[in-house]
Amino acid sequence: MPAIVVLGAQWGDEGKGKATDLLATTEQIDYVVRTSGGHNAGHTIVVNGEKFATHLLPSGILTPGCTSVIANGVVVSPEALFRELDALEARGVDVSRMVVSANAHVIASYHSTIDRVTERFLGSNKVGTTGRGIGPAYADKVARVGIRIADLFDEKILRAKVEASLEVKNQLLAKVYNRRAVEVDAVVEELLAYVDRLRPMVADTSLLLNRALDRGETVLFEGAQATMLDVDHGTYPFVTSSSPIAGGVCTGAGIGPTRIDRVIGVIKAYTTRVGSGPFPTELFDEDGEKLWKIGGEVGVSTGRDRRCGWYDAVVARYATRVNGLTDLFLTKLDVLSSWERVPVCVAYDVDGERQDEMPMTQTEFHHAKPVYEYLDGWWEDISGCRSFAELPANAQAYVRALEEMSGTRIWGVGVGPGREQTLVVPA
Ligand code: GDP
Ligand code: IMO
Ligand code: MG
Repeated sequence: MPAIVVLGAQWGDEGKGKATDLLATTEQIDYVVRTSGGHNAGHTIVVNGEKFATHLLPSGILTPGCTSVIANGVVVSPEALFRELDALEARGVDVSRMVVSANAHVIASYHSTIDRVTERFLGSNKVGTTGRGIGPAYADKVARVGIRIADLFDEKILRAKVEASLEVKNQLLAKVYNRRAVEVDAVVEELLAYVDRLRPMVADTSLLLNRALDRGETVLFEGAQATMLDVDHGTYPFVTSSSPIAGGVCTGAGIGPTRIDRVIGVIKAYTTRVGSGPFPTELFDEDGEKLWKIGGEVGVSTGRDRRCGWYDAVVARYATRVNGLTDLFLTKLDVLSSWERVPVCVAYDVDGERQDEMPMTQTEFHHAKPVYEYLDGWWEDISGCRSFAELPANAQAYVRALEEMSGTRIWGVGVGPGREQTLVVPA
């Protein structure tokens, strides 16, 4: 299995970090690669009871012998990169096998400034971003005024690009947002400070990964964000500014689609969302509170509470379709112990009409009300189960029902945050 994609099938925080770590430690994975997003991600990995969180770095950084790659599609804050590397190193993690694409775009401090002021100006229409400068950095990339990692190695080019990038931004900052203009010198100085540490890590990562695949090595592409946050296929405009779906892996890494062998969608046994935007199965009652509490649904990056709701099979089918999923990895099944019946959304009622697929327009999606089927619950604590057969009959039936409704086989089930708390589902 040379090229495997792991991605989020809902609105993020499905447990991609855990799924990646599990594969990296149980299969022979040579490279773990991030291809989109930046340090807006927060992936939790629990190893022998010890908790780690990665943001910009691929979770493979925790697997000895694995090379971690930040590919061209990622937006890189050098400050966040070294903060994260230093923090892991201080905990004894070997961070020497780290490679960064020369073509990745850079997030400078002005990108986060713009992210925050834009959100403030949007008022009640705000996206609820992480404030990390992700959107403004991708906007610069598409507007062709971005700074790339390779630019940091030529001060003259860097200065010219920073000047060009700040020309319009400074007008906006001063005249529209009533903020102080950003000094070119200060930005150049800020970025040059990272050059010496960056230089040995920088490579042509497309070449590196294609050669690895040619040699038959295994490359795991670790998704960040998720399908419903995709700028094309998510709940636009309440999305991130990149393409976290499977197709985005090809552009974000510089590999062809024929290279990919397996696409695993990570999905929670219920649903959560952080930030603004429509969420048909969202709960505002004690069930939502209970999911939030038992699931520990607080963001890893921003500390914000996650909105909680029931499993949405329409979203699962949609994720299956737009990503060409080959498997699902169902996480947090343990959180659902102690419900008499568990509702699962099988379709939407949109203005009185049943729709089994994702509505075509955002307006319809905003109007979508869940149509529920009720599955029998279970009371047993399942966090100690180590095989699918050990699960209570109703928990097994829940997994099988979700598999049927979602249109993809469920390959694994998570019954706790630890590496060992995973069950393989018999085919
Ligand atoms: P990611 O962004 O997709 O990597 O997910 P996050 O790390 O942001 O959020 C997932 C949370 O669920 C983390 O706290 C994980 O430790 C935790 N988690 C992952 N799988 C399971 C599981 O099967 N059961 C439980 N109870 N927690 C899990
Ligand atoms: P992981 O990889 C959940 C959400 C933000 C906001 C929207 C846009 O941990 O699953 P951005 O800062 O990207 O411009 O914010 O996207 N968001 C996430 N939600 N998990 C994430 O990452 C997210 N990354 C961004 O809350 O609604
Ligand atoms: Mg997360």
